[in-house]
Amino acid sequence: MMAFDTIVKGGMIVTAADRYIADIGIKDGRITALAAELSGADELIDASGLLVLPGGIDSHVHLSQPSSDASVMADDFESGTRSAAAGGTTTVLAFALQKKGQSLREAVAEYHAQADGKCHVDVSFHLIISDPTPQVLGQELPALIEAGYSSFKVFMTYDDLVLNDRQLLEVFAVAGAHGATVMVHAEGYDAIRFLSEKLEREGHVAPYYHALSRPEIVEREATHRAISHAEITGIPIVIVHVSGREALEQIRWARARGLKVSAETCPQYITLTADDLRDLNMGFEGAKYVCSPPPRDAESQAAIWQGLVDGTLELFSSDHCPFFFQDEDGRGKDTPKARTSFRWVPNGIPGVETRLAILFSEGVSKGRISLEKFVALTATNHARTYGLYPRKGTIAVGSDADLVLWDPNRKETIRQETLHHGSDYTPWEGFEVTGWPIATMLRGSVVMENGQVLNRPGNGHYLTRYTSSAQATANVDWSKALSADTNQSSITG
Ligand code: URP
Ligand code: ZN
Ligand code: ZN
Ligand code: ZN
Repeated sequence: MMAFDTIVKGGMIVTAADRYIADIGIKDGRITALAAELSGADELIDASGLLVLPGGIDSHVHLSQPSSDASVMADDFESGTRSAAAGGTTTVLAFALQKKGQSLREAVAEYHAQADGKCHVDVSFHLIISDPTPQVLGQELPALIEAGYSSFKVFMTYDDLVLNDRQLLEVFAVAGAHGATVMVHAEGYDAIRFLSEKLEREGHVAPYYHALSRPEIVEREATHRAISHAEITGIPIVIVHVSGREALEQIRWARARGLKVSAETCPQYITLTADDLRDLNMGFEGAKYVCSPPPRDAESQAAIWQGLVDGTLELFSSDHCPFFFQDEDGRGKDTPKARTSFRWVPNGIPGVETRLAILFSEGVSKGRISLEKFVALTATNHARTYGLYPRKGTIAVGSDADLVLWDPNRKETIRQETLHHGSDYTPWEGFEVTGWPIATMLRGSVVMENGQVLNRPGNGHYLTRYTSSAQATANVDWSKALSADTNQSSITG
């Protein structure tokens, strides 16, 4: 019997901490050796001239999520994870959304039923808490956290999701008691409603006005409020999809006070601006870029780069939230109702497949960030924040063999026709990048090669994650951390 199933030979291995040329020995889906020269495998993969990166982890992805209106998400777990694999991402943290009146357990069961046997990469769920009843807070949430659903998202806006301050505090307190990590969508509901209604009264209804209905001050105020609630309850939080300087200032202020506040940003905030919502003649095409918070301006983009460089922003996720632009059954962004006001345009854009290439090109190729920083922002920090490290997010003996073979010099133009997602458009049509994934490996198996995703839905497993208290142990006790993943269950069964 061979020592290894596969050896990846001669690539430049990059982690969040270092880079070196070595061979990677893989056995039973795990990395079992790293050395200058390995031999004895059934399969050799030549990686010379390429970078070998930990598979991307995208910790902010919406799949198969229902909307309150007629719109339908353009990706289910099959197409969304196929798109992820194509782009070099091997772990997707999607959301299991609790509808109002629904039990959390039921919501989780629904999402498992949707993901079961359909995933091309590994997945895990964050919960979305929209109805924090005494039953949810007292029983369901604590039990689910203990069972490995160790993070959840709360919203400070959206009619069907918004929690008031009292509810936020109650939910935060449960997270604190059980070691869960809370992601906060920080935009102020009342201010957005006030501004939206004013714009509508003035006849300002085109998609562009979506950006004016939620200016940076709305995000800054909610960010400050979320931080204050976190301080009151003594919990760490993650401020997701930070769009510009004002929210960043609040996060720096919180850290200076010694609070544990992490922060995420997304490709849209370094590449798009509100002007993208304002197509020629203020027409409807701008709806393709409607997401919340909205993309801002060049000054905000510069502030986001500064935050990425100085470590204020630790997570770079896609916030993949895919809708069709045009859909004959009225399930997309362009509907008669949405044309009456920006308020009815579904919020969100597709981006799970283009996330790595955009950050690599704009960041590494243009000399703004190092390779190691790129790996930290796209993989390692996600694993650390959400209870998957060191099983995921690094290249080390004992870790899952989730790898991307990356050509740093390859030039590509992003085109809808070559992407694998379900949407009928990409916001980055025609965007030129330098650096592209050549192959993606999930637990030792090639799942994408030269843009072709192997048609094996069911390769992806469901990942049970650690709570933040268990995570502290995982960071120092390697063997304990790794033995815990025998708990992981396969979606495919
Ligand atoms: O516009 C966005 N980002 N839609 C997705 C939902 C969310 O708030 O993350
Ligand atoms: Zn959000
Ligand atoms: Zn989101
Ligand atoms: Zn399996």
